[in-house]
Amino acid sequence: MFPSHPFAPLRIRGRALLPIVQGGMGVGISAHRLAGSVAREGAVGTIASIDLRHHHPDLLDMCRADPRRETLERANLIALSREIEGAKRLSEGRGMIAVNVMKAVSAHADYVRAACENGADAIVMGAGLPLDLPDLTQGHDIALIPILSDARGIALVLKKWMKKGRLPDAVVIEHPAHAGGHLGVTNLSEMNDERFSFERIFAELDPVFTSLGLRREDVPLIVAGGINSHEAVRKWLAAGANGVQVGTPFAVTEEGDAHPNFKRVLADARPEDIVEFVSVTGLPARAVKTPWLARYLRNEARIRAKIGSIKNACPTALECLSVCGLRDGVEKFGHFCIDTRLAAALRGDVANGLFFRGRESLPFGNAIRSVRELMELLLTGVARPAVARCGAFALV
Ligand SMILES: Cc1cc2nc3c(=O)[nH]c(=O)nc-3n(C[C@H](O)[C@H](O)[C@H](O)COP(=O)(O)O)c2cc1C
Repeated sequence: MFPSHPFAPLRIRGRALLPIVQGGMGVGISAHRLAGSVAREGAVGTIASIDLRHHHPDLLDMCRADPRRETLERANLIALSREIEGAKRLSEGRGMIAVNVMKAVSAHADYVRAACENGADAIVMGAGLPLDLPDLTQGHDIALIPILSDARGIALVLKKWMKKGRLPDAVVIEHPAHAGGHLGVTNLSEMNDERFSFERIFAELDPVFTSLGLRREDVPLIVAGGINSHEAVRKWLAAGANGVQVGTPFAVTEEGDAHPNFKRVLADARPEDIVEFVSVTGLPARAVKTPWLARYLRNEARIRAKIGSIKNACPTALECLSVCGLRDGVEKFGHFCIDTRLAAALRGDVANGLFFRGRESLPFGNAIRSVRELMELLLTGVARPAVARCGAFALV
């Protein structure tokens, strides 16, 4: 049993859950081990669907032997089904297993289908407007949770989905000034715009809900970005949120699915090491300025001027994005292979990887602790004393 805490449960599709959602983190950062461990505590654990083959040596061998796009895509769908199965097993039937799918990914419809067919409890979709999600999941009993960043986007999704006879089972509201990974703004200069403040979004949504004939409890709201303490959880749940989504603090837990070096890079990053830049998706993103990113940013203007508008063959053959700055020669987008860089980070390749991270400090400083300890700290404010562990998570 989870220790007692003062918060109301997060209710999603009839289930009463701890009001904490572990955010989906690709490539491979939140796979079955993290998502299953979070769900086992009674909360929402999220598998990031993108390119999960990197966790399966046999699938990587299959891709090496036959490096065509169809094979890579098939490997990823097999990997997703294995990860869902593994997470469900680990969860022992508690909490909820969600699958995060990014709309900007070319195979998003396949990932959604695979999530439905393999028994995921929810689909969480961001990085683009998820207007087609109700159609893609027709006939499946699965919670649908869009990720948006302002009241206008939420109102639009509510209206369009209601025309299809569907309501979101919850909405994640992600603040671009704090979150890790891709950010829900078109322009870096907008990041601190008042329209992203959670208080303002709650206030703006009241008349939207009324005009649509909805009660506030019909669509639970989950805030995300920089929630790193019990005080922050308490503040946002008191202000009107029904749950909080947490990313970076879960990425660095013992159960996080990435290499220990990945966790070290995130946990040891100082505020001045965390930067925003334009990704190959065209969206701004936030990451740690590790050697590769520092080099890329130093040369970004030169790279853009030289090859910005030239089309390139996809370096991995996966063609992971619907629109890619590198492949499609979109000058104002980023110009690197995001799949290669994120996969390197997952493997712990500090020199070559791209390490997404949120902006704020971490609940346990630079210590690596368990999912259970993190959730207890966030929900009760009590940190268990650190115990000496075997060196399984030391840098190798
Ligand atoms: C390493 C990393 C990878 C991420 N990848 C994804 C992703 O694949 N899809 C997504 O919707 N959000 C992604 N996010 C965002 C998280 O799910 C979460 O909403 C966000 O990081 C919350 O902010 P926090 O890190 O300050 O808690 C990622 C974040 C991190 C740190």
